[in-house]
Amino acid sequence: MTEIAFLLNGTPVRLSDQAPTRPLLDWLRVDRGLCGSKEGCNEGDCGACTVMVSDATGSRALNACILLLGQIHGKALRTIEGISGPDGALHPVQQAMIDQHGSQCGFCTPGIVVSLAVAHAQGRTDHDDVLSGNLCRCTGYAPIIKAAQSVESAPIPEWMTENHAADFSFAQISSGGSGGADSPPGAYHPKTADDLADWYQTHPDATLIAGATDVGLWLTKGLRGLPQVAFLSGIADLQQITPQGDTLRIGAGVSITDLMAALPQHHPAFAAFLRRFASVQVRNAATLGGNIANGSPIADTPPVLIALGARLHLRQGAKRREMALQDFYLDYRKQDRRPGEFVEAITIPATAPALRCYKLSKRFDQDISAVCGAFNLTVQAGRVTEARIAFGGMAGIPKRAAVLEAALLGQDWNLTTVQAVLPALAQDFTPLSDMRASSAYRLQTAGNLLIRYFHDLAGDFTDLREVAP
Ligand SMILES: Cc1cc2nc3c(=O)[nH]c(=O)nc-3n(C[C@H](O)[C@H](O)[C@H](O)COP(=O)(O)OP(=O)(O)OC[C@H]3O[C@@H](n4cnc5c(N)ncnc54)[C@H](O)[C@@H]3O)c2cc1C
Ligand code: FES
Ligand code: FES
Repeated sequence: MTEIAFLLNGTPVRLSDQAPTRPLLDWLRVDRGLCGSKEGCNEGDCGACTVMVSDATGSRALNACILLLGQIHGKALRTIEGISGPDGALHPVQQAMIDQHGSQCGFCTPGIVVSLAVAHAQGRTDHDDVLSGNLCRCTGYAPIIKAAQSVESAPIPEWMTENHAADFSFAQISSGGSGGADSPPGAYHPKTADDLADWYQTHPDATLIAGATDVGLWLTKGLRGLPQVAFLSGIADLQQITPQGDTLRIGAGVSITDLMAALPQHHPAFAAFLRRFASVQVRNAATLGGNIANGSPIADTPPVLIALGARLHLRQGAKRREMALQDFYLDYRKQDRRPGEFVEAITIPATAPALRCYKLSKRFDQDISAVCGAFNLTVQAGRVTEARIAFGGMAGIPKRAAVLEAALLGQDWNLTTVQAVLPALAQDFTPLSDMRASSAYRLQTAGNLLIRYFHDLAGDFTDLREVAP
């Protein structure tokens, strides 16, 4: 069995001649002639290529430019061409975009309509968040938001609920699929972590692909070939979040969207922080394991996890080992990971009331951190008794601020102490200057984040998006 099988706007498609690493957008536009989905950036930033992907877990908006054909195997796909009704009836979102003058040049419009149609089907009214990954350069967002608001109570068109989640049957489109031992050459679709462990041990040079929000760019921008890959998105046992005593075990395959949904009761500050992670489309694809394993010094979750004292669970065949996440990062893009070893899970404390995390970037939405700071202090009888502080964007790896932590320990927790310990940061870090920020900016603002943390814990107003009451 060598097929990639999926539903395309309700019609079964079986591909036997396609590389599983070919980006979906390329196939849609070039081979299928479905040019409604636009190619703007080809790197997941602009949302012009947004499509709706459904499976038994529901529907989500994803960027087709960094979604690989192998990832949609067994799923139902709806492009902008499938958002209007079979008889050409407009989706309420489309009609509202016309009525509210929500489109000028129209390049962004298909992506915006798909994002809004998925959100409409989910009953979401947080339109700013929904559109965080859809860039419109000419209309401006006011008419688009008005369009979204005007259809909040409109019924979901019948055709939007056909041929997806609930009705969707894998057997309907595929005579067996590309999972397991009969996977097509070059692509493996394991169904369990055990399958992956066995296979990866004997194929240690293969590339693991989870959400492809990093790997996708190696293809579209780096023009790299990936001769042998394993797609992890079908491994249900890597996608669980399990309470274990006073800890939470989070599977490597948990998406940032699902993590965000599970966190508010445990770590409200972490959940709110993840709202700044890329955009809806990217968060729907990106996994926690991918964010950790990719080893970027500006990845957003590692500093927070390190400040939480997270433990990393690695697996190589039947062998498992565990380490503090902070020890995983050895040097720039160099992690303590052995051939054929993968990230299975991460455990964090179930609660940490003093955890706060902040991201500084040029844009609020859809931007990579210039500096990211995570703070988790224990203060007893007015004194700092424990300190875990970690930063991203300040060094070649996500790293604890050991000198700063030592300077705080045993001190009275007040603004005088905070001001007095700030120079310690220059001993912890010599940040670089790049297009995101200068070294001096990084040092200064990292210190400012500690001041913000002090005010935040004190209950002072620190929401940067609002004018203080
Ligand atoms: C437009 C855009 C915006 C972004 N914004 C942000 C942002 O704001 N903050 C941020 O932190 N990141 C951001 N990213 C980066 C990216 O989304 C994250 O790093 C994401 O978490 C990667 O997860 P993934 O599942 O997509 O990984 P993939 O791309 O599938 O894989 C990334 C790497 O991890 C490896 N890998 C994946 N899973 C495992 C595993 N279980 N075990 C071992 N190795 C594994 C892969 O082999 C690969 O080397 C952005 C990316 C894009 C395209
Ligand atoms: S083309 Fe810009 S996100 Fe896909
Ligand atoms: S209408 Fe031109 S980019 Fe949005």
